[in-house]
Amino acid sequence: DAAPQGRGELSGRRVVVTAGGTREPLDPVRYLGNRSSGKQGYALARVAAERGADVVLVTTSSLPVPAGVRAVPVETALELEAAVTAEVGEADVVVMAAAVADFRPASYAEHKIKKTHGSGADGSPDESAPDIVLVRNPDVLAGLVAARGASASPVVVGFAAETGDASGSVLEHGRDKLARKGCDVLVVNEVGTDVTFGKDENTVHVLRRGSEDVLDVGPASKDAVAAAVWDVVTDLL
Ligand code: CTP
Ligand code: CA
Repeated sequence: DAAPQGRGELSGRRVVVTAGGTREPLDPVRYLGNRSSGKQGYALARVAAERGADVVLVTTSSLPVPAGVRAVPVETALELEAAVTAEVGEADVVVMAAAVADFRPASYAEHKIKKTHGSGADGSPDESAPDIVLVRNPDVLAGLVAARGASASPVVVGFAAETGDASGSVLEHGRDKLARKGCDVLVVNEVGTDVTFGKDENTVHVLRRGSEDVLDVGPASKDAVAAAVWDVVTDLL
């Protein structure tokens, strides 16, 4: 008797989704990057479009753009921040699924860094390894939370890729991060070199600000994870 679950639920809504790992260039041929494939972000964009939203996908990835989604290609954290700032104006929801680099090289070398860089005091080639100095990138998610101030819009969704460690479990790190970041929803996923990255399945824990409840999803397809995230977000709109 009913339409497929979620169909049309986001019609009239504007959403911005970020996806993929940023690449922070060192020189014309090298960058600092991470293992994010962008697949979960693309699934979030695809499901939102299927549910009727107007979707902008700010992406570092070259995966095929889902039907009905407008893609804005970016490479670095600074470009991603600029694109999100330009698109957030009328957004009802921003989903920060991108793996934004926390640091970037302090300087960009216009020419390829050579193995033998410069020369020693006596004119002989310098065989030492260069030090790469890093600087902090802006925290785009924290910027969105700060910019909306006391307003409830847009709903801001963060992602946290965690490995447990001596100071806490995956879930403990997730709860701390949700409190620290001040976003409305935090989707916590467990990562390691052999889980999640580039895979089509994902296992996540969805946390909501102001609630002790945890919604466990998966192992499930990234589309199924996306559907569960949009169900949670739709309740907040
Ligand atoms: N994020 C962001 N800008 C950054 C870093 C992260 O907007 N410079 C966003 C990510 O897109 C994600 C959320 O913040 O939605 C959490 O990212 P994460 O790397 O887990 O959090 P950090 O605060 O960077 O903490 P950590 O020290 O664990 O990396
Ligand atoms: Ca980080």
